[in-house]
Amino acid sequence: MTETLNRTDRDIARAAAMLAEGKLVAFGTETVYGLGADAQNNKAVAAIFEAKGRPHFNPLICHYANEEDVFGHVEDSPMARRLTDTFWPGPLTLVLKRRITCPVALLAGAGLETLAVRVPSHPVAQRLILALGRPIAAPSANRSGGVSPTSAAHVLAGLEGRIAAVIDSGPCRVGLESTVLDLTGPQPFLLRPGGVNLEALEASIGPVQRGITPGKAEQSRTLRSPGMLVSHYAPSLPLRMNATHVAADEALLAFGPPLPGAKLVFQLSEAANLNEAAARLFEGLHWLDAQAAARGLRQIAAMAVPEYGLGLAIADRLSRAAAPRG
Ligand code: TXA
Ligand code: MG
Repeated sequence: MTETLNRTDRDIARAAAMLAEGKLVAFGTETVYGLGADAQNNKAVAAIFEAKGRPHFNPLICHYANEEDVFGHVEDSPMARRLTDTFWPGPLTLVLKRRITCPVALLAGAGLETLAVRVPSHPVAQRLILALGRPIAAPSANRSGGVSPTSAAHVLAGLEGRIAAVIDSGPCRVGLESTVLDLTGPQPFLLRPGGVNLEALEASIGPVQRGITPGKAEQSRTLRSPGMLVSHYAPSLPLRMNATHVAADEALLAFGPPLPGAKLVFQLSEAANLNEAAARLFEGLHWLDAQAAARGLRQIAAMAVPEYGLGLAIADRLSRAAAPRG
């Protein structure tokens, strides 16, 4: 049985005690819900991979309460400091070199010399990390390859019985995972577009190398982020991108004025607003998945989104959902 906890001080303390005992607790962040374990407890971190069905070569993000704690564990640089001053707390993850003294379980970083770190802004995440007094390792709280959760109900739909508790933290403001930026190479490298726009990053630190082009994920597949498997974020129904018509057996994921003829529509944003669409994307995929099958619909047709701002991250997630499964 998985317990559902609330945002009260008592429940946060209880969740922190569970983490300290090596149990798994899902909690809300401003991006998506995370599946948390005490990052310094090897067995607890191993249990994350088990609960998610996640390959062990795919490293986890460590969540910290503040940047002082982060830079005690990983090496800083003027560029890292500039980014953290500007974007933390918030939806930016940095990949940095571990310090020799870093106490985070090696398994959390999949044995790499680097560690992905972020300081979330969501009050529940902040309070939980502070209550535990150590960083929390957390991937998104879904089964590996599935759609990330943006509500406690989504978490339970995928992980009920596999984790000790979920803290109902309300909806996720951003709704898409954090931007992952690797600072360990000669140039900053975008591993995953996400909640912080590429434009905002480049305004802060200058040119950022891009490895992943939406729609061309296969071609640009990179080993620098082992987790960027091409088929990912996938609903159980197949998904078709950049739809300009809707077939009889398709449900529609609309952006702006919907294409005609669909029996089932989830509107990401009537006004074609990218922030609103990002916040509703995973909700939409979960919902269409649940509704479409019951109506005999066999595929999701997704309308195009412009690839700037958060549109870059939305298009990235859609192209992964659309990729051949394997
Ligand atoms: O918004 C988010 O980032 C959410 C919330 C819970 O914080 N977390 C999340 O974690 O999306 P996850 O595990 O689903 O995605 C983390 C990504 C993966 O693609 C992983 O491969 C990459 O970050 N990553 C983690 N550590 C890395 C490292 N040391 N080097 C390169 N990539 C790394
Ligand atoms: Mg994930």
